Amino acid sequence: MAKPALSLLDLKNVSPDQIHLLFEKALKISVENLILKKENPNPLALVFLEPSTRTRISFEVAAKRLGMQTVSLLGAEGTSLEKGESFEDTLLNIDAMKPAAIILRASDQLDFQKVSSQLSTPVISGGWGMSGHPTQALLDALTIKKFRGRLSQERILFIGDTFHSRVVSSHLELAKIMNYEVGLCGPASWSIKNRITETSALEFSSLTEGLAWATVVIALRVQLERHSEKQPISNYHGTWGLNSTSLKRLSAESLILHPGPVNHGVEIESAVFQDSRCRILQQVTQGVFLRQALLHTFIEEPGGWL
Ligand code: CP
Repeated sequence: MAKPALSLLDLKNVSPDQIHLLFEKALKISVENLILKKENPNPLALVFLEPSTRTRISFEVAAKRLGMQTVSLLGAEGTSLEKGESFEDTLLNIDAMKPAAIILRASDQLDFQKVSSQLSTPVISGGWGMSGHPTQALLDALTIKKFRGRLSQERILFIGDTFHSRVVSSHLELAKIMNYEVGLCGPASWSIKNRITETSALEFSSLTEGLAWATVVIALRVQLERHSEKQPISNYHGTWGLNSTSLKRLSAESLILHPGPVNHGVEIESAVFQDSRCRILQQVTQGVFLRQALLHTFIEEPGGWL
């Protein structure tokens, strides 16, 4: 079996120095484009077995800005998965074609740790079920650092369906490394504390309390597709939604973020996009810089990562 490559499946073993260097590189890239030193004939493979818009296109734009080609497997349709081939065999075959790296999105049913340990290609998680979305947490953190001027000691409030949120899972890891506080606010049965018990995240029983505490709020989509019991969300906005009334409790210097996709009128009112504190689309822009920096590091300086 081939020697497993260094991968980024979660943030548990990442150091503050690695993140500082990554952010410095992303900042440099935002002012002067950086291309790979040597032409890399091996393309980036995008393997997305769950739907995605931002993550997939962001990695693709990042790769192309670095001068890389990309190849994609997007969903099972039209692939040999439809003929019964397993995900594991699919990935072993893509690995055998020697791409530069694989960006992988799949459900919790696929064991990313196990499968990546069998591959010689680096795997970067593009979102793993509810388990984690490390590059989303990193791009959120980069956005906060850019617009708040710091990350350490920031108070980041996640609102809504934290139980199903891979973004919150990754932030709980990143907060420990980068020394920021995490707050949770939403229906009690949707709290990530029902899934991850060992966390120092604070819980707020009302949106008003949470907004008064926060320096950054990250609204989350209600992920009805992951709920075993579908609950009506018609009353959700009135209690947990961000709108011009609820946001009066948030300080003027705070930031409003959302990983996307947005359910307008559920977790956030469309008018919030015009709020001067809202940086939702800037998050997406920072995401490309972050992924350029990450791909550059993985491909140009693999020994420098993990
Ligand atoms: N933030 C995020 O992961 O969005 P997509 O699902 O569109 O990739």
